[in-house]
Amino acid sequence: MISRLNHVALVVDDLDKACHSWQHLLGATVSEPQALPEHGVTVVFIDLPNTRIELLEPLGDGSPVSRFLEKHTGGGLHHICMEVADVIAARDDLLAKGARILGDGEPKIGAHGNPVIFMHPGDFHGTLIELEEVK
Ligand code: CO
Repeated sequence: MISRLNHVALVVDDLDKACHSWQHLLGATVSEPQALPEHGVTVVFIDLPNTRIELLEPLGDGSPVSRFLEKHTGGGLHHICMEVADVIAARDDLLAKGARILGDGEPKIGAHGNPVIFMHPGDFHGTLIELEEVK
């Protein structure tokens, strides 16, 4: 079902400082910040030869990553995302196997304009997994 690792998402409490650390300490190329109000985050992308890192900062009231920061001071690993060819087929297969999908189970459009679903971390020993349809 799964193929490439698409990205690893890290929550940070200060996006400017985090970007500086990745640029200054690691020599990373960091994109311009992109506000995604419908997801409650501001995101930057760091392209690596084999995948990308996303840094997420809370945006607006009730951001889902604000709650994450309350439990993880300063930030931390939020989720990993793997690609699937057909997100609806993946979801139906997972549900048939007894796995849980977050929200109403319908794919949402993610930060890269592709449909995504998130799987319940309780089914993966605490790790939040995103599946993104990439054609
Ligand atoms: Co993601």
